[in-house]
Amino acid sequence: MSFAEQLKADIALIEPALEKYLSRETGEGYDRIFEAAKYSAMAGGKRLRPVIVLEFCRLCGGDVQKALPFACALEMIHTYSLIHDDLPCMDDDDLRRGRPTCHKAFDEATAVLAGDGLLTAAFETASAAEGLPAETVLQCIRILGRAAGMNGMIAGQVLDMGAEHRKITLDELRLLQSLKTGCLLWAACELGCVAAGKNDADTLQKAHEYGEKLGLAFQIQDDILDIEGDAQVLGKTIGKDARDEKSTFPSLLGLEECRRLADSLTEEAAQAVSGMEGSGFLAELARSLTGRTN
Ligand code: IPE
Ligand code: IPE
Ligand code: MG
Ligand code: MG
Ligand code: MG
Repeated sequence: MSFAEQLKADIALIEPALEKYLSRETGEGYDRIFEAAKYSAMAGGKRLRPVIVLEFCRLCGGDVQKALPFACALEMIHTYSLIHDDLPCMDDDDLRRGRPTCHKAFDEATAVLAGDGLLTAAFETASAAEGLPAETVLQCIRILGRAAGMNGMIAGQVLDMGAEHRKITLDELRLLQSLKTGCLLWAACELGCVAAGKNDADTLQKAHEYGEKLGLAFQIQDDILDIEGDAQVLGKTIGKDARDEKSTFPSLLGLEECRRLADSLTEEAAQAVSGMEGSGFLAELARSLTGRTN
């Protein structure tokens, strides 16, 4: 299978599973929350994180079907982080995944609750994973909690909000971005390995490093696209980082240096897994992201 075909096949597994997990309407009068959660979750994101879960699982010789609940759980957490990131009290954004943001399409309270609901559903979904030893499921739940929590993605968002309207150092920026974006990416890598039953320190270290490097390269490209992307293609508003005086890679390093750094981090990501047999897809995935337009 070519890279593009494999990517398509992974997404074709993820999308219906995600929709199924989020379809628990009861007709009891609160179904609007499912509508809001699905509105954001099923809006056609790139599905990068769940794809990485499945691909690390495949690389480690596991059954991707068994990794699907963790892949979907991670995408739920990612979607919740986007819904909250877009709220007026955070980045105050109107457009996400090519649609009005959740709080614009619904209302602020519903968007807050849809985010909360997705975060909670993620842990319910992961804990209900079938056909794996309880110890494996528990380890995956721990990875999700660690990556999404107050020493993980939340910490990154806290630093991001605190770095508006002021200058920070490159080290501070790297920490901010690796927490904000890197955590959910290394979680994806580790989840795939653990779901496949491969949780030795060497494998997890390689997977973690791939996710860390890819996360930074990915965020650099996100920052570049905020400057020179096309809103139609990107599905997000352009120019908000400058509007909010965010601390970003381009604001510290300039665009040329950013492109160089993203390229070298991408190669370092590919290098991290190059010793693992069958890592071609992951190398190609990393390289495909540097020139992405959405
Ligand atoms: C956007 O993530 C937020 C960042 C961490 C940069 P993605 O670019 O992966 O968003 P979707 O899932 O494709 O919408
Ligand atoms: C958001 O980063 C990262 C998380 C949601 C954790 P950004 O604020 O740069 O993402 P976009 O540009 O709004 O997608
Ligand atoms: Mg933000
Ligand atoms: Mg934002
Ligand atoms: Mg951004």
